[in-house]
Amino acid sequence: MAGATHATLNDLPESTRSQVIDLLNQRLADAIDLELQAKQAHWNVKGPQFIALHKLFDEIHAAADEYVDLLAERIVQLGGVAEGVTAIVAERSELPQYPINISSGEEHVWALSNALASFGERVRRAIDETDELGDTDATDICTEISRGVDKWLWFVEAHADGATAATATPGTRQISRAR
Ligand SMILES: [Fe+2]
Repeated sequence: MAGATHATLNDLPESTRSQVIDLLNQRLADAIDLELQAKQAHWNVKGPQFIALHKLFDEIHAAADEYVDLLAERIVQLGGVAEGVTAIVAERSELPQYPINISSGEEHVWALSNALASFGERVRRAIDETDELGDTDATDICTEISRGVDKWLWFVEAHADGATAATATPGTRQISRAR
């Protein structure tokens, strides 16, 4: 990551802008990955809860698309390059890899909850990091995203009734990072 590469009259110090740009590019990769994972779930889910989950996963995709735009445009406002190309996102995303061979609502609820929780953890950390760096506007963006992600996690987890919810122990549902 290259930090600040374009001149701007933005009054934030260049060192602040460079560090925030690099930090937000990390979260941008996660957000693009989340966006794709939500579509993957939207297309492939099957079972008795199909229509509710199919619609919910598409709403999450649309929300993630907004998060992507918020992050990318903040990066450019600070004089950076938003690094949203597939090869970089695939290498940089810290979200667990989405399982391909799943189909039931329960499996997709579990997988997308995992993605949302992983992204939520990283965005919440970015709230403090951008605040410490002195870019309160980036902090505001991360806070807005964090609030949204927590809501979507609630919506998805609310479908994890019965067996999945009953057997889940806090902390054990997160699969390890696949990369
Ligand atoms: Fe669709």
